[in-house]
Amino acid sequence: MRSLYCGEVNESHIGQQVTLCGWVNRRRDLGAVIFLDLRDREGIVQVVYDPDLPEVLKIANTLRNEFCVQLTGKVRARPEGQVNKDMKTGGIEILGLELTILNKSAPLPLTLDDHQKNSEEQRLKYRYLDLRRPEMTERMRFRAKVTSAVRSSLESQGFLDIETPILTAATPEGARDYLVPSRTHKGNFFALPQSPQLFKQLLMMSGMERYYQIVKCFRDEDLRADRQPEFTQIDIETSFMSSDQVMEVAESMIVNLFKKLMDVDLGEFPRMTYLDAMTRFGSDKPDLRNPLELVDVADILKDVEFKVFSGPANDEKGRVAVLCVPGGATKFSRKNIDEYGKFVGIYGAKGLAWLKVNDIDAGLEGLQSPILKFLPQDAVKALLERTNAKTGDIIFFGSDKYNVVTEALGALRIKLGEDLDLLTGDWKPLWVVDFPMFEEFDGNMHALHHPFTAPSNLTAEQLEANPVGAISNAYDMVLNGCELGGGSVRIHNQDMQAAVFRILGISDEEAQEKFGFLLEALQYGAPPHAGLAFGLDRLVMLMTGASSIRDVMAFPKTTTAACPLTNAPSKANPAQLAELGIACLPKEVKEAPQSE
Ligand code: AMO
Ligand code: AMP
Repeated sequence: MRSLYCGEVNESHIGQQVTLCGWVNRRRDLGAVIFLDLRDREGIVQVVYDPDLPEVLKIANTLRNEFCVQLTGKVRARPEGQVNKDMKTGGIEILGLELTILNKSAPLPLTLDDHQKNSEEQRLKYRYLDLRRPEMTERMRFRAKVTSAVRSSLESQGFLDIETPILTAATPEGARDYLVPSRTHKGNFFALPQSPQLFKQLLMMSGMERYYQIVKCFRDEDLRADRQPEFTQIDIETSFMSSDQVMEVAESMIVNLFKKLMDVDLGEFPRMTYLDAMTRFGSDKPDLRNPLELVDVADILKDVEFKVFSGPANDEKGRVAVLCVPGGATKFSRKNIDEYGKFVGIYGAKGLAWLKVNDIDAGLEGLQSPILKFLPQDAVKALLERTNAKTGDIIFFGSDKYNVVTEALGALRIKLGEDLDLLTGDWKPLWVVDFPMFEEFDGNMHALHHPFTAPSNLTAEQLEANPVGAISNAYDMVLNGCELGGGSVRIHNQDMQAAVFRILGISDEEAQEKFGFLLEALQYGAPPHAGLAFGLDRLVMLMTGASSIRDVMAFPKTTTAACPLTNAPSKANPAQLAELGIACLPKEVKEAPQSE
C-alpha cells in the first residue's frame, strides 16, 4: 500500500511520485491551502494540498487528527525560508495528488503533543495510542535493536537460544510467586518462573554448554520505577567457564551494545568488593558518578563523652560514619537539614548530627554545630582532616547499628547527589564481587543471591562450620547506580547443595520435595557451570534515558500490578473456578501472613 515510509522521504526523492500510509499528526488549514503532517513509525512528513486539485483538497478538508490515510504525491524541495532543519524531512514536502481515508478517528482520550498532561493511568489505559508518540515508538524500536544485537552477539559466540517452561514449579529468587491453578490436578498449582534458573542449570547438565534466552520472568513484589511484576531477562548460562570468563562474555556484550547502538565507549569495568561498596557508598549498587563517599570515624569518636557517638563506636555491630558535602554549609538552611534528618529517619536513623565548616582557617570559631560542645578539640581536628573538609562544606553524621548507618547514609548520598546536581560523567559501570553467601535476619539465614550460588574456595564442611563469614562466587553488574544484571558460579556438587539447603533451614524432606529433581540431577556428572541474567528492561531504560522501565515496555502494569487497558487481573467466572476446584474467600477475610 506504500512505496516508502514518511520518515524516509528526502531530497533524493525530489521530482518522484511517492505513496505513503500513516496518521494525521496535524492539519493546518490556511484557507486556500491545507498543510498536513503525516506520521508513521519512521517519522513525519509535510504534505500540501492546493486548489489546483479541488477534489483532493475537499477530502483533505475533512481530515482530523489521527485519521488513518493513504496518499500519493510528488516530492518537491521546500520553498526558500520554509526549510525546517530540526526535522528529518524538513528539506522537502509532498504535493498531494491523491488521498484516501482508510479510517476515521474519534477525538483521542489523551493528547499526543503535550503528553505530560496525561496521567500514567490514562497512558496505560490507552497504551496503543500512547505508543503512537514518536518518543515511545523510538523506544520500542531501540529495544528491538538491543534484542537483535544481543542475539547476534551471543549466537556468534556459540550460545543456543533454548526455551524453558512458563508453567513450572517455584524458583526461589526472593519474591512471591504468581500461581496458576491446575484443572487436571485440582488443588495443585503451577508457579510462573521468577527466573529460568533451575532449567538453565539442568540444560548445562544436558551438555548444552552455552545457553541464552530472552525470557519473561514473573515476580509478585513491591513495584518501583525499575521493577515490574512481569519483566524480561537476558538469561545466560555456560559450562566449563570460570567466573572471570563469564564476566568477560557479559562485559564485552554490554560494551559492544553501547558502542554499536550509541557510539559510547564504556571502557573496562572496574571491580569492587561488596564490602568496599557498602563501606564507601552505603550500597551494593553504587552510582560512581556521585563523588560523595562515606567516611568511617568510629576510631576518632570512641572516647568522646557524647553517647550517641561513643556507644556505636565501641559496639562491634555499630558504625559511626560521616558524609562531607561540598558547598553544603552555605546551601543548606536549618529547614533543609531538618528535612534530611527526616529522610534518614525512613532508614531507621535516630538523628542526623551535622557540622558546618564556615571557615576552615578560623579554628573552632569557624565551625557551627549543635554537637560541637560535646566534642573535644582534637577529635574535631581529626574529623576535619579525615574528611578533607573545606570552607563551605557540611559534615553529616550517622551513628547506629552498622546496617542503619550504611543504609541511611547510602540513601542520603544518593539524595544529595540529585539535590546538588553532583553527578559527573555519563556512564559509570562496575562489577560488584565477593558478596557474602548469606545474610542473617529474623533469626534465619537467607541466600544473598539464590541458594544455587557456589561459595568461593570452601568445602561443604568449611561452609557449614562458618556460614556467616562465607563469601560467594557471585557478581553483579552495576551501571549508574542500577543493578543491570547478576549471576554466579553454581553449585554442581550434591553435597554442597544439600549443605546450603541445611544452612538455609530447609529440611532434607523439604529439599527433596522442592528441589529433589535438582539434587538428583547433580548425581549424573553435572559439569561446573556459571551464568548470569541481565534485566533487559533496565538496560533499555538506561540506554534510552527513560525514567522508568514502564516507558520501555509496550504494555506494562501499574505500580499496583494491574493493567488498566485489559482490566486484568479480573474476577474469574464461577463455572471456571468450580472446574478448577477453587473457592474465593470473602474480601473481609484477612490475608494469611506471607513469608518472603
Ligand atoms: P536476579 O534476581 O538478580 O538474578 O535478576 C537478574 C536481573 O533481572 C532484573 N530484575 C528485574 N527487572 C525488572 N523488574 C523486576 N521485578 C526485576 N527483578 C530482577 C535486574 C536483575 O539484575 N537467576 C538469577 C540470575 C543468575 O544467577 O543467573 C536472577 O534472576 O536487572
Ligand atoms: P540529641 O542529643 O539526641 O539531642 O542529639 C544531638 C544531635 O545529634 C542532633 O543533631 C541529632 O539529630 C543528632 N543525633 C542523634 N542521634 C543520632 C544518631 N544516631 N546518628 C547521628 N546523629 C544523631
